[in-house]
Amino acid sequence: MQAEQRARPLWSRSIFLRYNIPAVQLTLFSKQRRESVLETLAICKRLVGMIWDMDKRLLTAAVLSALVPSIVPFVNAYIYKLVIDAIIAGLSDPAAINMQHLVMLLTTRVATYFVQDAAFSTQGYVERLLWTKFPIYLNKKLFGHIAELDIENFEDPAFRDRLEKVRDSWYRPQNLITGMLFALQSLVQFLIAFVAMLTLNWMLVLPIALIAIPEFLYRLYESQSAWSIWDWHSHRKKRYSYLSHMLQDAQSIKEMRIFRLAPLFVQQTTAVQEEFYEDNKSLSMRAYLFRLIFNGLSTVVFVGIEVYVIVLAFARRVTVGDISFYTQIVSNFQNGLGGLLRNMNDVFEASLYVKSFFEVMDAPAVMSSAQNATVLELTQSPSITFDHVSFRYPGMDHEVLNDFNLEISPREKVAFVGENGAGKTTIIKLLARFYDPTSGRILVNGTDLRELELDSWHRQLAILFQDFNRYEDTAKQNIYFGNVLRNMDMKDIEKAAVDAGANAMIDALEKGYDQMLGRMFESGEELSVGQWQKIALARAYYRNAPVLILDEPTAAIDAKAEAEIFTRVEELSKDKTVILISHRFSTVRMADRIIVINEGKLFEQGSHAELMRQKGVYAELFSLQAKGYQ
Ligand SMILES: Nc1ncnc2c1ncn2[C@@H]1O[C@H](COP(=O)(O)OP(=O)(O)OP(=O)(O)O)[C@@H](O)[C@H]1O
Ligand SMILES: [Mg+2]
Repeated sequence: MQAEQRARPLWSRSIFLRYNIPAVQLTLFSKQRRESVLETLAICKRLVGMIWDMDKRLLTAAVLSALVPSIVPFVNAYIYKLVIDAIIAGLSDPAAINMQHLVMLLTTRVATYFVQDAAFSTQGYVERLLWTKFPIYLNKKLFGHIAELDIENFEDPAFRDRLEKVRDSWYRPQNLITGMLFALQSLVQFLIAFVAMLTLNWMLVLPIALIAIPEFLYRLYESQSAWSIWDWHSHRKKRYSYLSHMLQDAQSIKEMRIFRLAPLFVQQTTAVQEEFYEDNKSLSMRAYLFRLIFNGLSTVVFVGIEVYVIVLAFARRVTVGDISFYTQIVSNFQNGLGGLLRNMNDVFEASLYVKSFFEVMDAPAVMSSAQNATVLELTQSPSITFDHVSFRYPGMDHEVLNDFNLEISPREKVAFVGENGAGKTTIIKLLARFYDPTSGRILVNGTDLRELELDSWHRQLAILFQDFNRYEDTAKQNIYFGNVLRNMDMKDIEKAAVDAGANAMIDALEKGYDQMLGRMFESGEELSVGQWQKIALARAYYRNAPVLILDEPTAAIDAKAEAEIFTRVEELSKDKTVILISHRFSTVRMADRIIVINEGKLFEQGSHAELMRQKGVYAELFSLQAKGYQ
């Protein structure tokens, strides 16, 4: 279907249909046009406001240095006219030559060149500063905001599309501002030329405007199309980023090699890029033809006006100097108008892309922005209550948790067991308030999580996630990241490492705690999966928070180390609430209470001994595992 559309001839309307560009874009005063103009203006205003906040002097300098080059050429052309007229007057009557006057004119002309050059240099310098400074400012704002956003956003494909767009259009804010500066420059140039041309014959304005306006409209249509293609392709580009990441990532390369996936992935990346190329090609072809026509027409008009001025000179209605002056004026008028329209159009185009920046920046951080939230301050580990909690992930059609009820007392050690996909990790995500329950409440010391200031709650949590992070940094930093609010304390870091069974392994590294881990940076040392997990566990311990949550903490850790780790967990978490998730029943045994979760419901609970006596699911699974070792 798509291939068929693309194969249509150049003038087909396929591009309208495919990208949903209303044909109405080609009309000058439609409601859509007005709205998109207003939107563009709002985006421009906001972006300029940001730059103004960042550096007022730099922005002012950029505007001023953009204005000078649009004024100087007129001064220059006028002086040149005066020089020619003086020379011609001198030719017919040598006595009329005023040398002093001529020298003054020529000196001023030289001076204007210096002014022009200085303005260009200043412009280059200022823009360079602006475009190295602004990304720092923008990124700080953008990343700062992204860091506050809810986890839900990052698990939402539509939001990921938006992020991808931002990543893909990092240079557009710069284009927008440059476009505005150039548009301003062209506007001034156009206005001066307009006034000068009126002094000659106002009707000359007409043929030029007659060409410029359709050209402007066509360009608007063209940029709208370019943007629509880009927009339409953005989810594919996400696919492209993903594929190219997989092709380059050290982690993924092993499996891809053995399964021979690389050729397939290369083929897919190429296909994505080629489609984009094909769509752009047909648009470029159209743009090429239109430009050829418009450029031809403007040359005709330009030459026509030139001839007109020469005729006027023969009729002695203007001087010979005027021929040079008006030729320059007409050229400036044309350049000014063309530049204005072109740059307005660039501004419009860039604003479509910059919009996605603001969309990301305006995405609300719902979870962290509760008003009048209670700041949680604990003197001892809290009680945690799940009160009729049901939950489904956004866009999902069934409940992951279904009327889940559980009360965890302060300092209690509970363990969750259950099949893959039962909802164990989801419970942790709800407890960390990455999501809110679809119905029901989660209470901490009797207060609903939604009423707590989220930061103050997170400070009470040390969580080792099932898919923990591996930081490409030193061993020491990897552990310190567990509690960056405190100054680094080597004694505590080492203690956490000892408790997590990571100390001996770190000591054995060439640079010990200062050893760079991972393979991304120079002199980094790669660890085994289990070694990484021990480091992550140490990080959770270092946090020393009243609630310790371990989601499959020893999945990759050998049996001996695991046994040692769990004897220590008991000692070091005497005053903490501990939630442990594990598929290994040997480790679950030590918990005060074992919770069996099945299809998002609390299925069984009790101590190991109680559950074994009950002879339910737990007893059955435990025996099954035990049998494997007999
Ligand atoms: N971000 C998500 N968006 C949508 N569905 C999800 C998401 N994360 C998990 N799920 C679904 O929720 C269900 C429960 O997942 P969860 O990760 O809580 O299981 P689990 O009990 O921790 O399993 P495991 O033992 O394998 O770790 C699964 O069916 C999964 O498909
Ligand atoms: Mg899980």
